[in-house]
Amino acid sequence: MHIFSTITDLRNYLNSQNNSRKSIGFVPTMGALHEGHLMLVSESMNENELTIVSIFVNPTQFNNPDDLNKYPRTLEKDISLLKKIGCTALFCPSNDEIYPKNYSPLHIDLSPLDEVMEGKHRPGHFNGVVNVVNRLFEIVRPTRAYFGKKDFQQVAVIKAMKEALNLSVEVVAIDTLRESNGLAMSSRNLRLSESEKEKSTIIYKSLVKAKKLATEKSPREVEKTLTQLIEEGGLNVEYVTIVHPVSLMPIEKWEKGATACVVAYCGDVRLLDNMEVYN
Ligand code: PAF
Repeated sequence: MHIFSTITDLRNYLNSQNNSRKSIGFVPTMGALHEGHLMLVSESMNENELTIVSIFVNPTQFNNPDDLNKYPRTLEKDISLLKKIGCTALFCPSNDEIYPKNYSPLHIDLSPLDEVMEGKHRPGHFNGVVNVVNRLFEIVRPTRAYFGKKDFQQVAVIKAMKEALNLSVEVVAIDTLRESNGLAMSSRNLRLSESEKEKSTIIYKSLVKAKKLATEKSPREVEKTLTQLIEEGGLNVEYVTIVHPVSLMPIEKWEKGATACVVAYCGDVRLLDNMEVYN
């Protein structure tokens, strides 16, 4: 597998490969790869002639320095996982490569998409995501880019960014991969003990229950039940909200695609999940 740390080397490789305008699939990540990421890579490998994975823990999307410091970093393991599935190229840039001295941050108005939920609880988060993803798109120039639906709001924000900047890349969203007990796969799970992982399955179990309740109760009532179930399971809920799948606004009446979004803490580990509860 080719591993590039500079833009020049990556571009030289892509230019040398790409005389015949091969399609490029791109999977941006922050590393600590799990099967969910590998599924995005496999999907990209199936649909494109070249696949580039990036690993860059983007400091500008962390509003909490402690969260950034504790973010798992497992580069050696990541490299061997990518080699195993036959990935051909990995881009692991430094901070200076992504944000050179003359970098001028992008400001686009995506409101209200970037102001609700994660936007409200992690001020500046989506500004950081939009900047790094756009920067990576400029470097890789992908035909398609792959993101996990676990980050439901991130997918909506990136699709809106694509429209706002009139980018030609196709944004592909892939279903959340879960452990056999229902826990959504996430790099942050590495920070959970086995018993905490078990405890955290309450999020998935409660979402499944919410889906069943959607025909009997109003969205507000279902939010209350969801919160209660997760808190009773021993997690601390940061927010539970049932939103419209496109506007991301809380809904008062059931609408097709209504999605329940949850953030809850297990100890000091922040867990995020969602499920379409009405279709
Ligand atoms: O989802 C992530 O891992 C990150 O937000 C992303 C898209 C790689 C940008 O840093």
